[in-house]
This record gives sequence, structure tokens and C-alpha cells, in this order.
Amino acid sequence: MTYEEAKTALAAIGEEQLLSRFDTLSCDGQKALLRQIEETDFSCLPLFAARGRAAGRGAIAPIPAMQLPEIEAHAEEFREQGLSSLRSGACAAVLLAGGMGTRLGCSGPKGVVDIGLTHPVYIFQRLFESIAENAQAAGRPFHFFIMTSEKNDEETRGFLRKHRFFGYPEEYVHFFRQEMAPAVGEDGHVLLEAPGRIATSPNGNGGWFVSLLKAGFDRILQDEQISWLNVFSVDNVLQKICDPVFLGAVISSGCASGSKVIRKANRDERVGVMCLEDGKPSVIEYYEMSEELLDAKDAQGDPAYNFGVILNYLFRIPDLRKIADSSLPVHFAHKAVPCIDGEGKPIRPEEPNGWKLEYFILDMVKQLPGCLPFEVVREKEFAPIKAKEGADSIDTARALLVKNGYRL
Ligand code: UTP
Repeated sequence: MTYEEAKTALAAIGEEQLLSRFDTLSCDGQKALLRQIEETDFSCLPLFAARGRAAGRGAIAPIPAMQLPEIEAHAEEFREQGLSSLRSGACAAVLLAGGMGTRLGCSGPKGVVDIGLTHPVYIFQRLFESIAENAQAAGRPFHFFIMTSEKNDEETRGFLRKHRFFGYPEEYVHFFRQEMAPAVGEDGHVLLEAPGRIATSPNGNGGWFVSLLKAGFDRILQDEQISWLNVFSVDNVLQKICDPVFLGAVISSGCASGSKVIRKANRDERVGVMCLEDGKPSVIEYYEMSEELLDAKDAQGDPAYNFGVILNYLFRIPDLRKIADSSLPVHFAHKAVPCIDGEGKPIRPEEPNGWKLEYFILDMVKQLPGCLPFEVVREKEFAPIKAKEGADSIDTARALLVKNGYRL
């Protein structure tokens, strides 16, 4: 992108000030800034401007989940169907590993964290072990796409190469980078982190399919006739990836997507739950739940909104393509964003001074024609590592791994 092109593009969105220090930069600095302008996803800015007018939630109603007794009764049949789709190569896996891991205090990729006690056990290693288990059951490897971000791409690739993809065939592993979104100040304008650098952060986990296509991997999806993608987070060290029973259940349900869900531990657990919104499957965040919804009961007297999502989804590709161009809602997080002031002096704020913009994968559910909530046993499939200590920490994940017979 040339200086003139950048100026025109920024003028169109009222952000020419990002070039205000261009003349003070070295030749390399100028090139880097132009490249960053070209690569940054500014499309969410108009949505920031309209945030006060954002529509609220639609009419919320309960959604029936496929629960454990039903799954157990059909487990063999689901498993066979799932294995047959893995054998034919119709299903691939997508790891969302572009997050910053701020709560855990990560400086690099979360997946490189070692949670072993007597020998190294890396978070990435646990994911590859689960993949290998189901690939072995199917008798062949499946394609595995890994989304990184500008902040952790190099280290993720380097780490996995060094560990030889924990024995998984390298030709089945594909990396792609997610987009970066600009951070905006209280006045709604994009912040500069340094005279030649825009303050940006990964644009959330909702843009993964668009980023996968932009990286050119549609070729693999088409050539290999992949029709389902199992998408999951980096931090659940007990999850099953391309679990044949889950695949079989979703495929035979005729739904366009499926979501692994866990029964809520208690009424106020901070987890997004599955529901119907205006008659369509959707996910409602815990902070959006009214007292009335929290207390609602179903016909059996159980809580009506009782199944929380764990970020393990199965999506049918033709349906993903249909929604790839439609925009997801943008979520705004009020954060302390290091930046420079009007004179170019660095500001290192302790308190929030700006907004980070993110798309969420859970918003994709509502855009698809159907979703099967599929119950899994929490103690067997849900050990997320989010925080340094307390709930959802390395300690709680270790305890669950040991409980499941894993040697640390
Ligand atoms: P989280 O919401 O837990 O965010 O991500 P995080 O960035 O890992 O951690 P915090 O909030 O900074 O502490 C859930 C999943 O979505 C991925 C994460 O890597 C994780 O697998 N993710 C999140 C992305 O791939 N990109 C993003 O921009 C954000």
C-alpha cells in the first residue's frame, strides 16, 4: 500500500491522524506503518460508533439439548457415523489459538505452557494427543488448521516444529493468522501505540472462518472435500477433538452445527448458555441473564437454561460460507491501552483509557440454520486454563487430568 492509498483509505473512515507522524519515521518505519494499515481490520469501527444504539437481545426461550441418556443409548451408532466421516476425510479440526491469555499472564502463546509435574506436559501436547487418538481410531489423520495472531504466530510455529507436532504428520497441519483490530480511545478514534505503530489487538475468535479463507485454505477444504469443521479453544486440556460420537450425533441430527455443552454447576455459574433467540439457536452470556431467566424451570422442574457452552463446536462448511460475508456484532472491552499522546509522548495507563474490539464465535451460532446442544460430562471433558490461580487455573486442570488417569 502506498502513502496516498493509505491516506485515502484512512480519510474515508476519519482516521487520517494515524499518519500525522509519518514524516518523522525512518524509511523502514514508514513501510511498516503502511503494511500495518493495509493488514488491520478497520471494518469494525463504524460498529463502535453505533454501539450505543446496538440492538438488545431478541425473545429468549429454552432449547432442548441432547442429554447423556440419549447419547449413551445411541453412542455406538453415532460413533460409527462419526468414524466414517473421519475416514472419508469429511471432517477437519480448527484450533483457535490467537488469544492473548491475559488472565493467565502469558507473554506468548498459551499452548506452550508446561503443566507437567514430573515431566513436561504442554497444553499444545494435550490437544495433539486428543487429535492423534481420534485419528488413530479412524485409521487416518485429518487436517488440522491452527489460528494464531500477529502476537504469537512465530513462537507457535517454532514451538510446534521443535516438538515435531507431537508426532502428528506435518503435512496435515496448517497455520493461519487472524486479523488485528484497532484499539480506540474514549473519543472513538484509533490510538497509536508509537509514532509508527497503531495500537491493535487480535480481533476476537469470531473471525476465524474469514481468516481461514483469506489464508487460501479454501483450496484444501475443496480439494479434500471437507464438509465439517470442529472448532475449539486452546485452553481446555481435557477436550476431545473430532470426537466421533459428537460428529455422528450432529451429522445425523441434520443440524448445520453442534455445540458441546456442560450442565451448569450452579445457578450463577459464569458461563454462556444455549437458548433459542427469536426461535433460532443462540448463546446468551451469563451477564445478560435476567433473574427471571436464571430462575426459569422446564417441564421436568430443571433449570430451563442449564447448558453452558465450552467452545467446542462443529460447523457445516456450506452454511459457514453463506454467513462469511455477514457481519457479526462487535464486543467492546474497556481496557488500559498503552499509547502515545498528541505530542508523541508515551502513556502507560493503569486504568482503562480505551476500547478493544472483538468478534465472538458464539455469535455465529445464531446466524446458522440450526445447532444441536450436545451434553458432555464436565469432569471428563472440561478443564480450561484461564487464570493464574483459583477456578479454571493450572491447578484445577491438573487435578482433573489426574482424576482422568493422566500422569503428570
Ligand atoms: P478467551 O476468551 O479465553 O481469551 O479465548 P484469551 O485471549 O485466550 O484469554 P484472556 O481473555 O486474554 O485471558 C477463548 C479461545 O479463543 C481464542 C483463544 O486463544 C482461546 O482459544 N481466541 C481469543 C482467539 O483465537 N483470538 C482472539 O482474538 C481471542
